[in-house]
Amino acid sequence: MATGVTVCVTGAAGYCASWLVKLLLSRGYAVHGTVRDLCDNKTAHLRRLDNAASNLKLFKADLLDYDAMASAISGCQGVFHVATPVPSGELTDPELQMLGPAVTGTTNVLKAASAANVRRVVVVSSMVAVEINPKDWPQGKIRDESCWSDTEFCRSNESWYPVAKIAAEAAALEYGRETGLDVVTLNPALVFGPLLQPTVNASSQFLIYLLKGGRDQVRDKLWHIVDVRDVAGALLLLYETPGATGRHICAPHFITVRELLRLLKSMYPGYPYISEESIYDMDHPAPMTSEKLEKLGWSQRPLRDTIADTVEFCREAGFLEGADGDDVPCRFPPLFNNI
Ligand SMILES: NC(=O)c1ccc[n+]([C@@H]2O[C@H](COP(=O)([O-])OP(=O)(O)OC[C@H]3O[C@@H](n4cnc5c(N)ncnc54)[C@H](OP(=O)(O)O)[C@@H]3O)[C@@H](O)[C@H]2O)c1
Repeated sequence: MATGVTVCVTGAAGYCASWLVKLLLSRGYAVHGTVRDLCDNKTAHLRRLDNAASNLKLFKADLLDYDAMASAISGCQGVFHVATPVPSGELTDPELQMLGPAVTGTTNVLKAASAANVRRVVVVSSMVAVEINPKDWPQGKIRDESCWSDTEFCRSNESWYPVAKIAAEAAALEYGRETGLDVVTLNPALVFGPLLQPTVNASSQFLIYLLKGGRDQVRDKLWHIVDVRDVAGALLLLYETPGATGRHICAPHFITVRELLRLLKSMYPGYPYISEESIYDMDHPAPMTSEKLEKLGWSQRPLRDTIADTVEFCREAGFLEGADGDDVPCRFPPLFNNI
């Protein structure tokens, strides 16, 4: 038990961060969690966690507010920088809604961590900083941590989420090199698994859309998938492993949309589902490897368990009620046709 160690988790009320806070509290860490809104609807699920009453302190802080972030990080030995906008809808002002919070926000967190003499900062990046049209990378070559998505390609497609994640991760690693702050990054795949927070996040909407059916066209992309509880485990492992350095791909399973649809149908035949005709073909490059993380001792659940836990959670929570044809049709989050 890491009693006496205090760490900060940014965006603590979000999907991945909530599981991380739960894990940290269960291991005896004291946690400073930043949230933008302290209201019950956003934070009650955190306050209900075991050990929260004694070991969780919540701070109201926007990523663009350096002083508020610095207050939350002050007194911490470690920082998990998880917060980033993950917009499921279209952006009207990419700079304001995406690039500013992601990139300036990351710099604010790192500067505050330096000022507080933090031992290590673990930054959550994404597979979108690894696998999108990487320059000079042969199609058939397995993608590892030396592979970077092509930011100009993403920019030209107005794919602002990857543009922001690439820039934020590169800036974090560069900041570490320049200042000596110990910065490591995690690049998770598409994250599924049960939710702790009451509202549905973007990656959960992906699976819900396949189950509920809808009329949007979906690419038959080769998706890498990881369980949200295994992401939390990977983040803690990176914090606790002194020898961890640089980037870490966290993408253990891969499956195309068509294969995922067939797997879901075989496990849960009763749902309306999207039609196979709404899935359009695309080429599949070689997958990513999570070998670097696994060599540190990271292990992960089988994909079927993650799918089963997600579907069963969503059914019990009522997220699967209503199908296409309702007044408000189910939509595929545009983000996922852009990355
Ligand atoms: N889910 C995935 O499939 C996936 C895959 C790879 C990487 N990731 C990364 O994992 C991290 C967490 O994502 P998630 O899936 O857990 O999404 P999420 O539930 O939407 O969490 C995002 C969090 O960021 C916070 N945030 C957004 N803008 C902010 C700002 N300006 N200031 C302070 N906080 C802000 C949100 O706070 P509010 O609650 O106030 O909005 C929320 O807590 C992100 O860095 C994301 O890029 C996610």
